[in-house]
Amino acid sequence: MTPYNLIQFIRDLPKAELHVHIEGTLEPELLWEMAGRNRLTLRFHTVEELRKAYSFHNLQSFLDIYYDGTRVLLSEQDFFDLTWAYLERAAQQNVRHVEIFFDPQAHTDRGVPFETVIRGIHRALEEAIPRLRISSKLIMCFLRHLTAEAAMQTLEASLRFKNWIVAVGLDSSELNHPPNKFVEVFQRARAEGYLTVAHAGEEGPPDYIRQALDLLNVSRIDHGVRCLEDPSLVQRLARERIPLTVCPLSNVKLRVFKSLEDHNLKKLLDLGLCVTVNSDDPAYFGGYITENLLASQKALGLTRHDLYTLARNAFEASFLRADEKQRLIAELDRFMAAHPG
Ligand code: ADE
Ligand code: ZN
Repeated sequence: MTPYNLIQFIRDLPKAELHVHIEGTLEPELLWEMAGRNRLTLRFHTVEELRKAYSFHNLQSFLDIYYDGTRVLLSEQDFFDLTWAYLERAAQQNVRHVEIFFDPQAHTDRGVPFETVIRGIHRALEEAIPRLRISSKLIMCFLRHLTAEAAMQTLEASLRFKNWIVAVGLDSSELNHPPNKFVEVFQRARAEGYLTVAHAGEEGPPDYIRQALDLLNVSRIDHGVRCLEDPSLVQRLARERIPLTVCPLSNVKLRVFKSLEDHNLKKLLDLGLCVTVNSDDPAYFGGYITENLLASQKALGLTRHDLYTLARNAFEASFLRADEKQRLIAELDRFMAAHPG
């Protein structure tokens, strides 16, 4: 059992979240409300029925429901409200910095303009700085099940808002959509000044992680848990201190691991990899960052030092400037000193 003071320590720990899809923070209650105000009919009769439908057997079965949920997001205000609701929850969990993914193609392909999406998200992120004391960066993901040409068009649409986006990423169905499909798009993104990240090694093989590093020049790997199948890759990730944004509850819900007790998070930490804990799609997977940390601590026996390392890794792996990272790490260190084990 986790002692009470360790639970409170996890709750209060200053945190950074580096892997959260804003569309994956759409709680059933807000989805319901938005469907109502946008006069859309849902297949469900109650919010409870909707929540019950959140049961998945792999990544694709989740993505089908996730994309269906995005249909209720239509106006700039919808994107603002979605983002604000996430940020309020994050603030309650003492998230001090967040790097948010968004999937423009999930919206532009339904006729919602790119501009509507990004303006709503950006306004919420700006308001959160003074009102919630949360800093942020925005990462635009390409849907890898769509073509490289579609990704290139999305990249071009984003250029007008380049100052609001720190990096591009790659998400959606991993199997059969390797990073090498997007080499040109990522090259162009880098030439335009974007940093790069990619989901790799969630369901896909370790070779996809290598491709993301070698062909897409990513600064971080999202998930990356299948790296353990390739010891020389693990050595490289450790040597080059490539951060992995691991999402424990997501991995169990999508059956990457049978249970949290079987998750390799603790092994990755013990191997000295720069691992972080994140929520991925918290509205669908049963928890935000604190719930991910609490459940992982309990299942894997993470120590206070492990939890400190995870929090520190996240600040270090963020896309903040060096002085901004230092300020947050100093805050974390003050917290540790005030809460001796
Ligand atoms: N889009 C939202 N969540 C995702 C995940 N876990 N993997 C790939 N694409 C996603
Ligand atoms: Zn993800």
